[in-house]
Amino acid sequence: MNLTVEEKDMLEGKEGEGVQKAMEILVALGEIYGARDMIPITSSQVSGVSYKNLGDAGLEFLQDWAAKGARVRVPTTLNPAGVDIEKWKELGISKEFAEKQIELMAAYAAMGVAASCTCTPYMIGSAPKYGEHVAWSESSAVCHANSILGARTNREGGPSALAAAIAGRTPNYGLHLDANRKATLVVEVECEMKDYADYGALGYIVGKKAGNKVPYFIFKKNKKIKTDCFKTLGATMAAAGSVALYHVHGVTPEAKKQNMVMSYAEKIAVRDLKEGYAALDSGTDDIDYVAIGCPHASLDELAEIAGLLKGKKVSATLWITTARKIKQAAGLLVEEIENSGAHVVSDTCMIVAPIEELGFKSMATNAGKAAFYAPSHCGLKVRYGPLEKCVNAAITGRWA
Ligand code: F3S
Repeated sequence: MNLTVEEKDMLEGKEGEGVQKAMEILVALGEIYGARDMIPITSSQVSGVSYKNLGDAGLEFLQDWAAKGARVRVPTTLNPAGVDIEKWKELGISKEFAEKQIELMAAYAAMGVAASCTCTPYMIGSAPKYGEHVAWSESSAVCHANSILGARTNREGGPSALAAAIAGRTPNYGLHLDANRKATLVVEVECEMKDYADYGALGYIVGKKAGNKVPYFIFKKNKKIKTDCFKTLGATMAAAGSVALYHVHGVTPEAKKQNMVMSYAEKIAVRDLKEGYAALDSGTDDIDYVAIGCPHASLDELAEIAGLLKGKKVSATLWITTARKIKQAAGLLVEEIENSGAHVVSDTCMIVAPIEELGFKSMATNAGKAAFYAPSHCGLKVRYGPLEKCVNAAITGRWA
């Protein structure tokens, strides 16, 4: 790779061991992927935060890096951790797990990483602008940043995003380059899309078909689509396949500016969503846990849920996960939701929290990504469907 004098100094350890380690990771990645040089980044978002996924080995790795003097040099945020820092006891999480999680957060904090703990940093003031280069690692946030915001990031791993934050740069390959941002799969959506869950089902179908291709959507029956629907579409495509960028005809910023379809792109039509709904649904009709907010819920979603819960009490455990800043901004909405017995949960989510310790068996959700991962990551059976049906399942304890 062509490195600048400053980058060579970093690699040789002239800025300390912590920075040297970061540059070693970045140079190794750059060489694997054929990057010619590094590109400066404006922000980083680091996944691999939950103690459930990292364990003691991950904790020691981070503490060691912090002890080597590593400090981030661009604004850096964290993905959801394993616990809600304020209400883990109330949610039934064990003290042992919470203490380990707090140690992990302290290691990140020592490196200057903001403990925002959300997969939707773009909703709380950390949205990169069009064309900005960043190093993000949460797959749903990567998809959103590239596609909806027109920023540029590869799908980083937690360590490579942290290394990029410490070095302030990332290897210049993949989705940082114009040549790799054009669509290679055109998807004509012929059915009408009605609910968030429809976008998750579509995300599953297209994610499986696309792998790491770049899809270009043409929605035949829907003219205006809410950003929250794209949030769930991107998250599920990233989970079921490894999609990191997509375009929507006439909607997403790059597709508005120029032709983003490769001449050799394959074309598919989606006429109904049955395959997606069937694949994401493995549950029983008795529901003891309902999880909404994957990716983390927006203010609009919280308002919708508050409306559905008005005057009702839940019989199953209901978590609505959202960024702490959104929860703070939601004010009375949180009170209205929690009056029903539901929990508005921050800093964590249904997949990275130690849900399996809480004894639930069957989860209902309207989130494609959560439905995709819950069986393997949390040992849960899943009922997958529209928001209203999920809220109703929380009230009655039944999927009906
Ligand atoms: Fe976010 Fe957790 Fe879903 S990190 S995208 S809420 S699995």
